[in-house]
Amino acid sequence: MNRARTPLIAGNWKMHHGGASGAELAAAVQRIAAQLRGVECVVAPPFTALAAVAQTVAEIAEQTGHASIGVAAQNFYPEEKGAFTGEVSASMLADAGCNWVIVGHSERRQLFGETDAFVAKKAKVALEARLHPIVCVGETLEERGAGATLEVVLRQLRAATDALVAGKGAAVVAYEPVWAIGTGKNATPADAQEVHAAIRKELSARDAGLAERTRILYGGSVKADNAASLLGQPDVDGALVGGASLDVAAFGAILRAAAELASRPTSA
Ligand code: PGA
Repeated sequence: MNRARTPLIAGNWKMHHGGASGAELAAAVQRIAAQLRGVECVVAPPFTALAAVAQTVAEIAEQTGHASIGVAAQNFYPEEKGAFTGEVSASMLADAGCNWVIVGHSERRQLFGETDAFVAKKAKVALEARLHPIVCVGETLEERGAGATLEVVLRQLRAATDALVAGKGAAVVAYEPVWAIGTGKNATPADAQEVHAAIRKELSARDAGLAERTRILYGGSVKADNAASLLGQPDVDGALVGGASLDVAAFGAILRAAAELASRPTSA
């Protein structure tokens, strides 16, 4: 963590809590986030819970006088409207109260065939709709085994760099090694730092100021007990949390770890 960048903790609920339980979970997260300083929080419910979550957190924020947590969608289709049965546009997300969206999650790349070019287009269209994209990159176990981690991650990043530059820091990058997602295995803090530093260096080649501003999250089995060591790395600016974001106590502990690190006067 670098105190020049506000740490961001984002919870990716995946296909969980699409109904009333989503608003309940978001309310609990909003109440925890309101007690913390120096950390930004986002939750990403399924489409069906987005409007209720956005309304719930806005109401609690108003009652308590604290800023509302961010609300992200997990996906969208990068066309404004039309004959795209089953799809949802960026402006529809904004209408539902979203201000963030995850793009290029490895599950979308692997299960739904999203390519680097498609992910880049989504990042661009999200920014045009004033949504903050969380652009996910990450290598598979085979790619890591073949020594191709940086090659893969930087290829995915380069495809989206024009959008990131146009976004002037409104976009966030998430490094999520595919082998660490939902597996309980996570990159060591040093491994994460190495990739995060390479991502920042790559951004810096295009725009040094942008590289300094852009938050790079780590994702992949982030839990209450490993969050502080990962977030303690100089180029790790937050976390994209899957499984542990479904548990209020665990997600709250990750938020607290980030706030605690952010409050340390000498943190790197
Ligand atoms: P995980 O998921 O924390 O359950 O590993 C992370 C993600 O997929 O964003």
